[in-house]
Amino acid sequence: MIQETDWDGRYRQEDTPWDKGEPAPGLVDWLKKNQLDPRSRVLVPGCGRGHDASAWAKAGFETTAMDLSDRALNDARESYDSLPNLAFCPGDFLHEQPKDPYDLVFEHTLFCAIAPDSRETYASSLVRWLRPGGHFLAIHFVFPLSEQGPPYGADREEIIRRFEPNFQLLEDWSPRSFKERQSEERMFWWQKKP
Ligand SMILES: C[S@@+](CC[C@H](N)C(=O)[O-])C[C@H]1O[C@@H](n2cnc3c(N)ncnc32)[C@H](O)[C@@H]1O
Repeated sequence: MIQETDWDGRYRQEDTPWDKGEPAPGLVDWLKKNQLDPRSRVLVPGCGRGHDASAWAKAGFETTAMDLSDRALNDARESYDSLPNLAFCPGDFLHEQPKDPYDLVFEHTLFCAIAPDSRETYASSLVRWLRPGGHFLAIHFVFPLSEQGPPYGADREEIIRRFEPNFQLLEDWSPRSFKERQSEERMFWWQKKP
């Protein structure tokens, strides 16, 4: 039986082993190598303390970072208050509707954080949050699924099967990762079908 995770409680207790205090190395590398339209509006759902979202904002993009946890968002605001193009918003990626869908969604350790029986909901939510032709950049954990989590693993085939109905896979690769996650992550670059 999978228990709901008390995310806010975990932040309040400082029980946050996923938080490395800096943006994901795979994202840092990707932002150095890739040129996107600078007018792109970016959403970072499950942003936690905002390190990845801050990398998008520092790269010049108007960035909205969303999380369920008020405590995580407060910590994020304290750290990244000085970035005028970065907004931290409380929200539930799985159940809310965007007023204005985004050009790009970036995710890191959200898909693996939700219970596996919510993955279909995640995939359909992603369709709502992105405009047609918009992009989805993700860093996923790739290891076999176990009922013990989070993180809940998923293999490459499952990830592709989840998103392929509505997205075209443009590229996937093994990124540079935090030391203890080396070889456990895979990055995916998708485009939403028109
Ligand atoms: C494992 S943590 C990762 C946080 C951050 N991405 C990082 O790498 O440090 C998962 C995050 O997703 C958030 N979260 C879980 N379910 C969510 C949902 N439905 N909508 C928005 N955020 C959610 C949690 O509060 C938590 O901050």
